[in-house]
Amino acid sequence: MAQDVNYVDLLRRVGIFEGVGENALVALAAQLELKTVAKDEQILREGAKAHGMFLILKGHVKVSRHGENGKEVILVTFKPGDFFGEMSLLDELPRSASVIATELTQLLFLSRGAFISHLRSFPMTSLNILEVMSVRLRRADDIIGNLALLDVFGRVARVLIDLAEREGQECEDGVMIAKRPTQSDLAAMSGATRESVSRVLAELQRRELLQMSGKTLHLSCRLMDHYDMRA
Ligand code: CMP
Repeated sequence: MAQDVNYVDLLRRVGIFEGVGENALVALAAQLELKTVAKDEQILREGAKAHGMFLILKGHVKVSRHGENGKEVILVTFKPGDFFGEMSLLDELPRSASVIATELTQLLFLSRGAFISHLRSFPMTSLNILEVMSVRLRRADDIIGNLALLDVFGRVARVLIDLAEREGQECEDGVMIAKRPTQSDLAAMSGATRESVSRVLAELQRRELLQMSGKTLHLSCRLMDHYDMRA
């Protein structure tokens, strides 16, 4: 029981349960399972049958698709407070993508039955999930547009800005990303080669639009404003 109370506190930190009452959270908490996954461990496999969805408590994951030659395309990354694995539960199709931990990650697992019965009883969670899924679809639209309309320079810049908007912290003259992705990850996110990413990063630094130090990345306001298509 003490553990359930703990889970209720954790659920309050997950945006999709905003507006859901205490009793409902207690009922939900009783059905959660805590899972810890190591860095690089696969949590979901594209094409696999779905049994439940996940909430991230700690750590980060990436959502990827792999081509026949093994080439990876990173669709999105998720942080604490985000959820994933809901799509297959809603449309009853196999997993749309693979999900892999990019660091030691703690998750809460909710089975398909518990998730669907919670949604049936608490429309507030359904509305919250629809809102998040709309934001995700808009982002996917932006990416499709970017792939067709922007050159490599613009695509890498847009990926950096997308990361800054979702995970960065505003600071003087820009946004700071605490844990910068590797050049290979940036390549997999922008549909570019690692060599092109390296060239773009060097050019952005030369133009003082970007600074890298240690693990952090600082994007200047000028860069954010220039490539923010929604601005
Ligand atoms: P599901 O298809 O069950 O398993 C893979 C999960 O990755 C999926 O649910 C979503 O939670 C997530 N996912 C897949 N594609 C995207 C995307 N384009 N944007 C955000 N999340 C995604």
